[in-house]
Amino acid sequence: MESVLADVAIKASRNVLTKDSYKQGAGRRSFISYRDIGVTDATGGRIYAVAGRLGKEAETVATGWHYHTCELQTAYTFAGGPATFQTGEDLAGNTTKQIGSQTFMCMSKGHPHNELGSTAGGTYLELVIGEMGTVPIEDPAAHLGEHADSWCTFAKREDAVWKPGEGARSFLSFWDFGITSKTGGKVTAHIGRRIPGSQFPANGVAYRGDALQVLFVIKGWVELVREDGTKERNEAETCLCNPAGTAYTETAMSDDYEFIEWLIKL
Ligand SMILES: [Fe+2]
Repeated sequence: MESVLADVAIKASRNVLTKDSYKQGAGRRSFISYRDIGVTDATGGRIYAVAGRLGKEAETVATGWHYHTCELQTAYTFAGGPATFQTGEDLAGNTTKQIGSQTFMCMSKGHPHNELGSTAGGTYLELVIGEMGTVPIEDPAAHLGEHADSWCTFAKREDAVWKPGEGARSFLSFWDFGITSKTGGKVTAHIGRRIPGSQFPANGVAYRGDALQVLFVIKGWVELVREDGTKERNEAETCLCNPAGTAYTETAMSDDYEFIEWLIKL
């Protein structure tokens, strides 16, 4: 993967989404309402991130085979589905996949795919690293032959394996989406949640990440204090973008606290 963040001064940002944040067509597709979660501005446009809600036309609009020019495209569906989808591995048998709710998708640069329709009202979060370009493909098999090392992977919540966090995050458990090795250790994505009945706070130890952290609260709430003493309470639909090196200590959280997180070292 190209190092798209090397010369970018990442700003810290904290965005709270509301119903009013939806903007119809403020993105690639006219039938999607988008909510900017603040990461695009915080990263000088090198990372694009939105929450989206599919409109009625999503059920009948097919994209045709295409690929993207970004370094990595990731998306997590919260609700709705299934979406019908074809990727490189479906080419030989002309098969399709059904992508339901609570599924993570990750695709490398250049991987051919074809979106055949999805359920109206579905909601998702998308995070794209690098400049997003879309290029139609006339001959997907030939294209795949030229991009044989490209890949697409899915992680479904029904198959999730939850593992306890380490050190300052030992009161959380994580469902890892399995993209760390696929991206050469540069990008990790997972869902974290409080371990029920875990001791909290864990020794008052601060979390200090060595990667750009994008964290979106899915459920519950968390209160934390930052190094400069700033306290904040982050409830569902709050998105944090923290540059590498940012430290904070969680001081309280709800039993049902759950978040999706990307840790990016580029
Ligand atoms: Fe696409």
